Amino acid sequence: MESVEAEIKALTDELNEANHQYYVMDNSVMSDYDFDQKLKRLQQLEEENHALADENSPTKRVGGDITKKFKSVKHDIPMLSLANTYSKEELEEWEARNQKLTDDKITYVCELKYDGVAIGIKYKNGQLLQAVTRGDGSKGEEVTSNVKTIRSIPLQLRGDYPEELEIRGEIFYPLANFQKLNEEREELGEATFANPRNTASGTLKMQDSAVVAGRGLDCMLYGVYTNQSNNKEYPGHYESVEAAATWGIKTPVGKPRYIAICENIDQIMDFVNHWDKQRSKLPFEIDGVVVKINDYRIQEELGFTAKSPRWAISYKFKAEAALTRLNEITYQVGRTGAITPVANLQPVSLAGTTVKRASLHNADQIEKLDIRVGDFVYVEKGGEIIPKITGVELSKRDLLVVPVEYIKNCPECGTELIRKEGEAQHYCQNVLGCPPQITGRMQHFISRKAMDIDGLGSETIELLFQETLVKSPADLYELTFEQLINLERFAEKSVNNLLSGLVASKQVRFERVLYGIGIRFVGETVAKKLAKHYKSIDNIIAASQEELVNVDEIGDKIAESVVGFFADERNIQEVERLKAHGLQFELSEEQLANTTNKLEGLTFVISGVFEMHSRDELKAMIENNGGKNSSSISKNTSYLIRGDNMGPSKLAKAEKLEVKMISEMEFVALLNG
Ligand code: IVH
Repeated sequence: MESVEAEIKALTDELNEANHQYYVMDNSVMSDYDFDQKLKRLQQLEEENHALADENSPTKRVGGDITKKFKSVKHDIPMLSLANTYSKEELEEWEARNQKLTDDKITYVCELKYDGVAIGIKYKNGQLLQAVTRGDGSKGEEVTSNVKTIRSIPLQLRGDYPEELEIRGEIFYPLANFQKLNEEREELGEATFANPRNTASGTLKMQDSAVVAGRGLDCMLYGVYTNQSNNKEYPGHYESVEAAATWGIKTPVGKPRYIAICENIDQIMDFVNHWDKQRSKLPFEIDGVVVKINDYRIQEELGFTAKSPRWAISYKFKAEAALTRLNEITYQVGRTGAITPVANLQPVSLAGTTVKRASLHNADQIEKLDIRVGDFVYVEKGGEIIPKITGVELSKRDLLVVPVEYIKNCPECGTELIRKEGEAQHYCQNVLGCPPQITGRMQHFISRKAMDIDGLGSETIELLFQETLVKSPADLYELTFEQLINLERFAEKSVNNLLSGLVASKQVRFERVLYGIGIRFVGETVAKKLAKHYKSIDNIIAASQEELVNVDEIGDKIAESVVGFFADERNIQEVERLKAHGLQFELSEEQLANTTNKLEGLTFVISGVFEMHSRDELKAMIENNGGKNSSSISKNTSYLIRGDNMGPSKLAKAEKLEVKMISEMEFVALLNG
């Protein structure tokens, strides 16, 4: 039998390789299921044999280390910034200056200017040793545990790497992951994040590395340093980036036009113009292009100014911006009581639309911008859809404007606001008495992913509340024909529609009712997990915090919120009332009978139209039997369930990746053993 040590080594190598292929090379060589199984096995071996557990084991990727205070670390080589240019003329001036300082013919390298946060990562004998943020340029904060959770950053280098080296690169939030994060937050009634860059920066400095692991940050290399200066073994920047790619580091080399060697200004401008137009198609944000002199010898000859290297320059894209007056700041109250300040602007046209409002996010943001009512402010549309205020034109500031005094009381109900430590948002805690919280909760309850009640929408909820007919979801079930028929906009047909919609909603499954009652942090997925595990609301109410955290994927934050929710007698009463009206508060017989683990480890993609089941039914069948649904085809897809009229591109992708395709009938047969 092989020794434990050998097994640990074999698993480590396999997992590192699978990880590299997936996150650096965009290539999948192992199914998610196999990966999880191997990782679990490695975790188990490490727990049983502490002495053999490596600091850079792939198990470190899931995080878990908590950093109370980040250590300040001095950089061996300062982390400088770059001088900016905005036009071809400025670029030409830079080139002329370069040519005065050297007689050699200069070759340039163009790269994307990733919009994230700079990081320096040291490796010794191929092992990741330390990762430090830029900080003030001469010292930064050590964020090693968090950086280790970023899957595209190798913990162990491969190939022929130098004994000691530091790579510099940019950590960023891929747009798809950022959008997913905000969607999840929205679903939970939490304030969304303003932009990927600040969120990447905030994430990197979180205390709990397990949370960082779940965020899906990415990193791209832009510099390689050995022996206190640039990497001398290679003649220039481009060659050392190429080499770094062979050590397993994610670099722009090999990606379509992410990096280019340019011989003159025209070629540089081609690169700039290409990305100025195409940048919206990238999976991450960039704010320009960085131009570097390739040859390390010439780089050294030119040297540095106090702030930046002479051998590199950034060409910044012009963000589409407009200047307009801030007329008023108003405050919105969300269903959880979170307050969001909103800038009401003098309407201005920007990138094809008229902008009237922009989110100011929270009190800190207002303070940071030092924005005052009456100021002229710059509004920009970056990669995000919602415009943002980027600054104030101080030269146009009126002498009489005064700093914003953030509201102390809820604009809707007058209750004093509180701000908990570590939270950016102020909250109104008048949960049961604050109008937008009351209507927000009911609107969430009736929403499509929750009770999805026919004939009842957000505006009707507002109306019913104004007419003092409803204050909580349970009130909806006590509405009568007589009450409704007298309301504006209602006629016999619409009243009957609404009433029968309510009756029908009594059949909505337990997990959706659980999601609908609006426990903070219990989104759709968590509700499904809890329903499946506990099978009834009574079991969930009875569960302690310790029991809850033992459920797969339920963390402290969720557990605490669930326990807190049911500790409030009023919430229990509401549940009891809903129960009395006949809503589903436990899994149905059918659900209990149909829950198996038969499809565990299998990932399905459903595409096309089907004869016997709807797509939602198929999805539910997969989930109830332990399988996973995915919307896009990858090498990890176990089966594509193919219906009629499937899209040609999906089909082509499935064929290319040799994904197994089955019909609806074959799927049912698979399920029935
Ligand atoms: S090279 C000596 N290359 O931009 C400075 N920087 O304004 C060498 N950045 O702090 C920096 N993409 O965080 C370089 N391809 C790229 C970059 C890049 C983004 C960031 C970096 C740096 C800032 C400078």
